[in-house]
Amino acid sequence: MSATTTLDPPSPLTSVLRTNPVTPPRRVTRALGNRSEVALVPGGPHTAPLVTSLLEAMSPEARRMRFFQAMPRVSEQMVRRMCAADHDTYQQWLALVDGDAVGEVSVARVDGAPGQGEVALAVRDDWHRRGLGRLLLEVAGVLATNRGMPTLTCEVQTENRASASLFTSMGFRFHFADGCLSGHGPSPLWTGEPEAAGMLRRLADAARVDAVRSGAVLAPAA
Ligand SMILES: CC(C)(COP(=O)(O)OP(=O)(O)OC[C@H]1O[C@@H](n2cnc3c(N)ncnc32)[C@H](O)[C@@H]1OP(=O)(O)O)[C@@H](O)C(=O)NCCC(=O)NCCS
Repeated sequence: MSATTTLDPPSPLTSVLRTNPVTPPRRVTRALGNRSEVALVPGGPHTAPLVTSLLEAMSPEARRMRFFQAMPRVSEQMVRRMCAADHDTYQQWLALVDGDAVGEVSVARVDGAPGQGEVALAVRDDWHRRGLGRLLLEVAGVLATNRGMPTLTCEVQTENRASASLFTSMGFRFHFADGCLSGHGPSPLWTGEPEAAGMLRRLADAARVDAVRSGAVLAPAA
């Protein structure tokens, strides 16, 4: 089972689960190409400095691809919005290496479309083409299905070949709408150990409880 997954992964990622020795675990880690260990953590207001550093380390062009607008400077307001995760209608997670954010992914429920979420992501420029985008989409798949969203949509700018290729390789299909590529596909499957997916779900649920307790979001209706 997990040994097979580790030895014969369907992606370039070698998937290895190691839970943080601290109890309770606060992150899930996965080895990326046998060289680096990526920690996956839920985002929130406390991760704003990490998100700021990530966005500042991205090229203006990569930021434009992510946010659909020119962003010569990173705005505090944008970071605040990204970090306002209630971990239900809007989930946001980070990929960390040695404590620095190297990628982020978000899943937002689509209003009026039950079972559908919209996914968006970014990987720091110096981390491109190492399988991190694929890993973050697998994380999005776990988060989405955990909240009852078997289908994901995405918006990609027509010139964004990297993103269109990534999503297509994960089973998304695109059509042209309103000046951009509109994609949809099944929430990506997790190719790592099932235990790691279970841990992601538990962390996501704990992050939801934290968000409600902190008063950052309204408690769900009973
Ligand atoms: C799109 C993005 C997230 C891809 O991240 P990444 O970590 O480089 O992607 P991966 O290494 O996981 O690539 C997985 C697959 O995607 C495709 N892909 C990724 N980058 C590509 C590129 N520059 N050209 C063509 N295909 C590409 C390939 O099929 C690749 O598989 P391969 O490396 O085995 O050939 C990254 O380029 C990025 O952050 N861009 C700026 C922000 C953005 O565009 N966000 C998406 C808007 S929602």
